[in-house]
Amino acid sequence: MNRAEQFVKEQLQHDSSGHDWWHAYRVKQTAAAIAEREGADSQVCILAALLHDVADPKLNPSKEEGLRKVEGWLQAEAVSAEASEHILGIISTMSYSGGNRPPMQTLEGRIVQDADRLDAIGAIGIGRAFAYGGARGRLMYDPGESAREFQSEAEYRNHRGTTIHHFDEKLLKLKELMNTESGRELAEQRHQFMLEFLDRFHKEWEGN
Ligand code: ADP
Ligand code: NI
Repeated sequence: MNRAEQFVKEQLQHDSSGHDWWHAYRVKQTAAAIAEREGADSQVCILAALLHDVADPKLNPSKEEGLRKVEGWLQAEAVSAEASEHILGIISTMSYSGGNRPPMQTLEGRIVQDADRLDAIGAIGIGRAFAYGGARGRLMYDPGESAREFQSEAEYRNHRGTTIHHFDEKLLKLKELMNTESGRELAEQRHQFMLEFLDRFHKEWEGN
């Protein structure tokens, strides 16, 4: 394991919100694959992907302090000023919460954001959704549950919806948010797999 991976693993070891080390690892793997296909700066994509959750306010006294910690690490590792600034820009933009995040400014930022969203869909996304719901004591599914609108991200996070409902509310919408052509292709395959999973889930629910 290299030094960046070691640092991220140490930083994320106490996280319990679904942003564990293996999430960072998968986002890095996916970002590296997309970077190659899109002809982007792989070093920036890989470091930004690994570090994208390290400055999270849930793991730090504040987002600013989290970003300073990442900045200090980049300096200590002698990452160039230009690459560091780029990586910090990506991380700080990605960590805006809510639906009104500003668009990512660079190809590398668009790639890391795609990789992060891809980790919420497909087989891994299904696994993460049920792990999240289970950790919060939620039902997998309730046939009587109906669609509703939420006024804020906080309201959405706090309501006790079922995990299957989360697919309609969020996971099935993510493929439309992809930034890059490669991200869209990967999202399309993962999306189809979720549709097949949901179709089987509903059939098995009724004993078919
Ligand atoms: P991020 O901060 O990376 O956008 P979230 O914190 O919203 O992601 O979610 C982390 C993981 O938990 C994702 O895989 C997401 O689908 C899942 N998750 C979030 N909210 C719910 C929910 N209400 N039900 C099931 N899974 C959820
Ligand atoms: Ni993430």
